[in-house]
Amino acid sequence: MKAIRIHQNGGPEVLRYEDCELPEPAPGEARVRHSAIAVNFSDVNVRRGGFYIANPQRYPLIPGNEGAGVVTALGPGASAVAVGDRVAYVGSGGPFYENTGSYADERNLPSRCLLKLPEGSPETLAAALLLKGLTAAMVINRVYTPKRGDIILIHAASSGVGLLLTQWSKHLGATVIGTVGSEDKARIARAHGCDHAILYRESDFVAAVKKIVPRGVSAVFDGVGKDTFMASIDCVRRFGMLVNYGNASGHVPPLDLLLLAKKGSLSVSRPAFSTYIEEPGEFQSASAELFDLVKRGVLKVEISKTYALRDAAQAHRDLEGRKYAGSLLLIP
Ligand SMILES: NC(=O)c1ccc[n+]([C@@H]2O[C@H](COP(=O)([O-])OP(=O)(O)OC[C@H]3O[C@@H](n4cnc5c(N)ncnc54)[C@H](OP(=O)(O)O)[C@@H]3O)[C@@H](O)[C@H]2O)c1
Repeated sequence: MKAIRIHQNGGPEVLRYEDCELPEPAPGEARVRHSAIAVNFSDVNVRRGGFYIANPQRYPLIPGNEGAGVVTALGPGASAVAVGDRVAYVGSGGPFYENTGSYADERNLPSRCLLKLPEGSPETLAAALLLKGLTAAMVINRVYTPKRGDIILIHAASSGVGLLLTQWSKHLGATVIGTVGSEDKARIARAHGCDHAILYRESDFVAAVKKIVPRGVSAVFDGVGKDTFMASIDCVRRFGMLVNYGNASGHVPPLDLLLLAKKGSLSVSRPAFSTYIEEPGEFQSASAELFDLVKRGVLKVEISKTYALRDAAQAHRDLEGRKYAGSLLLIP
C-alpha cells in the first residue's frame, strides 16, 4: 500500500509518500480501506515531536489517527463490524497521538474502535466531523453549556472546532464573539452564526470584547492557547468560565490559581476529548448526537480543502500557515 511516513521529527518535508507492507489483521482487528483521512493539529504535533508526546516515537511512523472508509478484511475474533461496513474512527484505543497510522490507503485497527456510519452520512463528512465535533460536544455538554442570554467568546472561531462551537452555541441561544485571523475567516465565521468577529492579529481583542460586553463574557472557548489564554482572563465576567481545549499557538504557561480569585472568582477547565468517550458506548452515543445535529441542520461541516494523500506535506503547510477555515481532508 501507499502511506505517508516520517523517519524523524521535523517540518512538513519529513512527510514522505512511500510504499509499505500492511500485515494481515491481527486477532480482533479489522482492515479499513480509507475513503477520507482527517488532517488534525495533533498530527502536526506528532510530526514535530510535540510537547505532549510522552513515549519515544518509533520510526518509520505513519501519522494521523482519524479516518473513514470501508471494512475489507477481518482478523480472527473481530466481531464488532462486517466486511463491507462503512465505518469511521477517532483514535485507536490509547491517546489520540499514539498508535497512529491513518495517513495511508489502508489500515488495521481494533474493530471495537470502529463506528458504523449511519445511512446518508458520507465518509468525507465523518472524517471532517468526528474529532472536531466530539471536542465541541465535550466542551458544550460537559464543561460549559451556553444558554439564552450568555455571551461566549470563541477563539479561532473559523477553525475546525471553532466553527462547530460557534454554530452549537448559537443554536442554544447564546451570542457569539469570535476571534479570527483574517477578513476571509471573519466572513466564514459570520456565515456560521458568529455575531461579532474580531481580527485578533490586528487589534487588541480584550479591548474589543470589553467594548461589546463591558461586564465580560460568560465563558471563553479557547483552542489557541499560548497567545490568547492569559489575556482572555480579562474578558470574563465574575464567576465566568475559561475553557482551554487546544494549543494551536503553543502551550499555556503555568497558572497561579489565586489569579482566578482576584479576577472575579473564575473557573478554568482543560478537557481532553478522550475522557469524553472513554466509557463503553460513549463514542457511539456522542457520535450519534453529532450526526443528528448535522441532519437537523444545526451543524454545517465546512470542508475547506481536500488533498491527495501524497500531498500531505502541503496540507500540513496550509494548516500551520492558518490558511483555511474548517476541516482539511486527505483522499487516498
Ligand atoms: N482537547 C482536545 O481533546 C482536543 C481535540 C481536538 C483538537 N484539539 C486542539 O484544539 C486546537 C484547535 O483544533 P482545530 O481542529 O480547530 O484546529 P485548526 O482547524 O487547525 O485551527 C487552529 C486555528 O488556530 C488559529 N491559530 C492561532 N495561532 C496559531 C498558530 N500559531 N498556528 C496555527 N494556528 C493558529 C488559526 O486560526 P486564525 O487564523 O483564525 O487565527 C487556526 O486556523 C488544536 O490545538 C488541537 O490540537 C484538542
